[in-house]
Amino acid sequence: MSKVGGISTTSKQLMELLNKGIARELQVSIQYMWQHVLATGIESAAVEDVFRKIAINEMKHAEEIAERLAYLGGTPTIKPDPIFVGADLGEMLRMDVKAEEEAILLYKQTIKVADKDGDITTRRLFEEILGHEEEHHDTFSRLLVGMVGLSQPEL
Ligand SMILES: [Fe+2]
Ligand SMILES: [Fe+2]
Repeated sequence: MSKVGGISTTSKQLMELLNKGIARELQVSIQYMWQHVLATGIESAAVEDVFRKIAINEMKHAEEIAERLAYLGGTPTIKPDPIFVGADLGEMLRMDVKAEEEAILLYKQTIKVADKDGDITTRRLFEEILGHEEEHHDTFSRLLVGMVGLSQPEL
């Protein structure tokens, strides 16, 4: 596939969606990594590794989307969306469930626009990433539900 072909068929709307995706991925990769570093308390011990693993996964998403955007002739943003670390584990998980919900909505829209553009490669990339975001959403939601009923989170 030639680079010229990619540039000539990519809509401005799709380019903007890719950059929105990059900004989100940069946000959550920092957000989850800092939650991994800052999470405290007994119940956090089990969650720390989850934050770290997902943070690395999000950085890979940022890389993949940036590579795709550069190939299509765009310039990947270096600015993350606002980062929310949270004051305690419950707040962290609530922020993360919300972030994943937003990512799922954005990537469903990106898939639709890529499809409209006839950009099969971008559509497939986002279908794969969407699957990961749904897994993250499931993981964070389960952890949050698991916290309900803990009377004293900071033991
Ligand atoms: Fe992601
Ligand atoms: Fe995610």
